[in-house]
Amino acid sequence: MKLTFKFLLTLAFVITVVLGQHLKDDEIEEKVNELLNQMTFTEKIGQMTQFSGTNKQYEQMIREGKIGSLLNVIGAEENNRLQKIAVEESHLGIPLVIGLDVIHGYRTIFPIPLAASASWDTVLIRKAAEIAAKEAASAGIHWTFAPMVDIARDARWGRIAEGAGEDPFLGSAIARAQVLGFQGEDLADPLTLLACAKHYVGYGAAEGGRDYNTVDFSERTLREIYLPPFRAAVNAGVGTLMSAFNEIGGVPASANQFTLRTILKGEWGFDGFVISDYNSIGELVAHGIAKDQLEAGIKGLTAGVDMDMEGRCYTTAMEALVAEGALSEELINDAVRRILRIKFKLGLFEHPYVDENLQKGLILHRDHIQAALDLARESVVLLKNEKNTLPLNRKKINTIALIGPLADDKDAPLGTWRCEGKREDVVTVYEGLKNTYGGDVTIIYAKGCDVKGNSRSGFNKALKAARKADIVVMVMGESADMSGEAASRADLNLPGVQAELINVIAETKKPVVLVLLNGRPLTLSNVESKVNAIVESWHLGIRHGNAVADVLVGDYNPSGKLTVTFPRSTGQIPIYYNHKNTGRPGDPNNKFSSKYIDLPSLPLYPFGYGLSYTKFKYTGIKVENNRLTTSDDLFVSVNVKNVGKCEGVEIVQLYIQDKTGSVTRPVKELKGFQRVALEAGEQKTVQFRVPVQKLGFYDLDMKYTVEPGDFSVMIGGNSEDGLTTAFKVVSLEQEEKEH
Ligand code: GLC
Repeated sequence: MKLTFKFLLTLAFVITVVLGQHLKDDEIEEKVNELLNQMTFTEKIGQMTQFSGTNKQYEQMIREGKIGSLLNVIGAEENNRLQKIAVEESHLGIPLVIGLDVIHGYRTIFPIPLAASASWDTVLIRKAAEIAAKEAASAGIHWTFAPMVDIARDARWGRIAEGAGEDPFLGSAIARAQVLGFQGEDLADPLTLLACAKHYVGYGAAEGGRDYNTVDFSERTLREIYLPPFRAAVNAGVGTLMSAFNEIGGVPASANQFTLRTILKGEWGFDGFVISDYNSIGELVAHGIAKDQLEAGIKGLTAGVDMDMEGRCYTTAMEALVAEGALSEELINDAVRRILRIKFKLGLFEHPYVDENLQKGLILHRDHIQAALDLARESVVLLKNEKNTLPLNRKKINTIALIGPLADDKDAPLGTWRCEGKREDVVTVYEGLKNTYGGDVTIIYAKGCDVKGNSRSGFNKALKAARKADIVVMVMGESADMSGEAASRADLNLPGVQAELINVIAETKKPVVLVLLNGRPLTLSNVESKVNAIVESWHLGIRHGNAVADVLVGDYNPSGKLTVTFPRSTGQIPIYYNHKNTGRPGDPNNKFSSKYIDLPSLPLYPFGYGLSYTKFKYTGIKVENNRLTTSDDLFVSVNVKNVGKCEGVEIVQLYIQDKTGSVTRPVKELKGFQRVALEAGEQKTVQFRVPVQKLGFYDLDMKYTVEPGDFSVMIGGNSEDGLTTAFKVVSLEQEEKEH
């Protein structure tokens, strides 16, 4: 290819600019240490202090070098104004790093993370994070407190909405995608965000699903279930982590040397910094392991929390302790080094200010909105579709009764942690259906009831609408404030009188499609049999209504799969797919086995479950070699055929079980997944490669090991059904001996 001189010259210029722009790691270390040596004790503590919002007092503290970071300050102009104080009016001019909870979009709001995880589409999830970063960074934000990577097995916990569900393997893949999306290739790029994997660690295991509650699990559970997504985030280069509110077996996460120093900074060699959650250091006093804020600060610092978010526990009172040798200044120096290192990597010293024109044309760009719609469509999970009620048959349907408190609601689709999302940007289900049908179909809308409360005054109008219609679409569920932080629910049924309204409408014998908007699994046993179809649509962001309408009318064939188990009853919780077998596995025909006497043991809908408008047939599962050493790779394949009448995407899932080990092993573990698009009638052979080294666990000595023995493999479209085969792992010594 002939490269013109002009092209070469341009290329050279770009490379010079890019390289010239960034300091190499060793240059950063040099600058960090130079700066550290000039800092007063007050300025060091200042870098370790983050406050929320701003005011005249904070501005003066910035001037005095007593604040190194702010959160919840919005807008390019405002952030530049505050940055100017730090850079041009303080002793050393160290720039602020400004953070915000950009969880699933800045102004272009995407599906909540639990919804997005149901797409199993790490490419699109990464793109959504990239877009969120562009919009937030253009508005003067440097740092997002995301991704939230807490594994959650308890749907009572409202924050299950913010994560990627119950599985460590999928959660790790999604954590990696989000970190790469937010941070891009270069932290100094003005349109990327520093990411923050949170809440380190085990926050999703709160007893009773009650937010902030006690967590107590074994080191093996910590290492095999709750740590992997954080490890994946660190391996993807995440610059920060956030320590959690909860205790772990008696030691609060924000004062836990084992998790923070031994594992994160020691075993994993993490060289970014750890910020506390909001006053989680100060809360060590309430936890009962510190008598006052100073002792709490010492515990947090000693454990390895580098920055104190709104805790006011890292104070100059520590100087006296350093002077008397009661506290090592090296702990403080290490924390400050970590923070300064990230600020240099962000390019804040070279470019502290954001271009205030950047956000024009970026915020709500049409490509961003399209991406939000794409991800919303892929996040929808079809849970039930009796007699092919869906997609709605355009030839047979002239009138739709659209009923429910969320059918025309502009708030719920934004979900929890909506950042700068605005109701005016949201397309509701009602609007989506009107957009799709134009005037072709009559839509009779009746709210019917509220999300909460016990008013039945809307029932009659809803009944009248249903009686006039060919089909009823009921849009029910949770409002946005019923999930997210401090939103645990003890009862997971549809709130208020929504279930009663479904029963009343079902009496009309009209076909009913139930569309759910919710931030967590709900218990649906009291309505499941009353409806013909169930569409799980979560809180899908600004294009919620278009995505749901596309699925309902068949313009998009649903492909989503649950990433969290839907229990039949709250009483089944915790319930998750990768459970242990126990000595008496549940057997409906054996009284003395692990089960309930008043409920089947299986969930209503299992992990990995989701229907399509077409059907996929699995045949010919095969392992390439059924005798492997611990250093081999497992190659396993299966044929998947679309035996239905329309195209579709199947999320093919690979589960593996270690049949016997030196410790008990889960009945199955997800070890691979692929999104496979198939035209009607098309068949593909889907291949998986799994390094045998990935099939290990933490043994009796808490060492990661792969043990020889028998393994079973299952490949299917959910965690309960699939084709199975087997293979054996032998030790290298055994292999040599026998060959
Ligand atoms: C909150 C949340 C955390 C969030 C932080 C800052 O309490 O626990 O997820 O990032 O405070 O808003």
